[in-house]
Amino acid sequence: MISKASAPGKVILFGEHFVVHGVKAILCAIDKRITVSAQQIPENKISIKSNIGNFENEPTKPIEEIQSEFRPFYYLATKMIQENNANSGMEISIISEIPQGVGLGSSSACCVAAAAAISGVFSKKSKDKILQLAIEAEKTIFPNTSGADCTVCTFGGIMEYKKNEGHSKIQSEPKFHLVIANSKIEHSTKEVVSAVQDFKEKNELEFSNLCNEEEKLIEDALSCIKNNDWSGIGLDIKKNQEFLELIGISNEKLRKMIEVANNSSYGSKITGAGGGGCIFALTDETNLQSTMDDLKEYECFSAKIDYKGLDTF
Ligand code: PMV
Repeated sequence: MISKASAPGKVILFGEHFVVHGVKAILCAIDKRITVSAQQIPENKISIKSNIGNFENEPTKPIEEIQSEFRPFYYLATKMIQENNANSGMEISIISEIPQGVGLGSSSACCVAAAAAISGVFSKKSKDKILQLAIEAEKTIFPNTSGADCTVCTFGGIMEYKKNEGHSKIQSEPKFHLVIANSKIEHSTKEVVSAVQDFKEKNELEFSNLCNEEEKLIEDALSCIKNNDWSGIGLDIKKNQEFLELIGISNEKLRKMIEVANNSSYGSKITGAGGGGCIFALTDETNLQSTMDDLKEYECFSAKIDYKGLDTF
């Protein structure tokens, strides 16, 4: 039996990095997906096929010896085979519409879709259980994850998220469009998060003040979202970008892209770890095309909120 699942990528609208240190974040899932298929095979091996490469190994290796991009899949496959006392290997294939390593949640979407597809070979599990498995799998590559990305990729929609408290969906369904532009500079979330930790240790008071400012900004943004106040959200996005500049996760190219995107959109900022990766700009029907035109020298696309989240079939 082939078990299949797909999960959406995500954009962090507000609060990346600060969320790792206990501040609330606002995230939304986007209509770009990763699909994972899994099936048992008689050979005693884990085999993975994806557009970033193929992998094959026996299911008995220590996880640290597995190449990081394949680790979550290997972790989930060996865990499920053991838990189900299955005398088999597993074949996994991955098809992705989400660019990798640029802050759009490709690794979290992979973990969520893989957790559902791989566990689904044996039995169907609840979304809460899948999320727990996905976060365990993500921790094999990024132990300090706040869990925010996997949560939004599982449940979809637009939500508030707080580490240790979990998520709460924003019930209004805002109809904005995001224009996402890729700097083509890959980043390592683990390295950028650790650079922010260094910044925090060296600038304790400044970091704590920024966390307080971010909290206030997010409360304002939540009320703007509920009122469909795009201009208000845009101003908050610009303010959040100033905070990200202060903690040192921006660079010349990202600043240039944001300046261009601010021309016609309501507001623009980095999404995700930064240091490279993507920026997004908030638009509606009136300025979607002009923002796409302004950003045409970069690889860019428009995205809407995905309300479905994890899908199994
Ligand atoms: O760049 P991404 O998609 O890996 O997003 C990371 C978001 C952080 O807030 C920087 C880390 C986290 O675990 O929330």
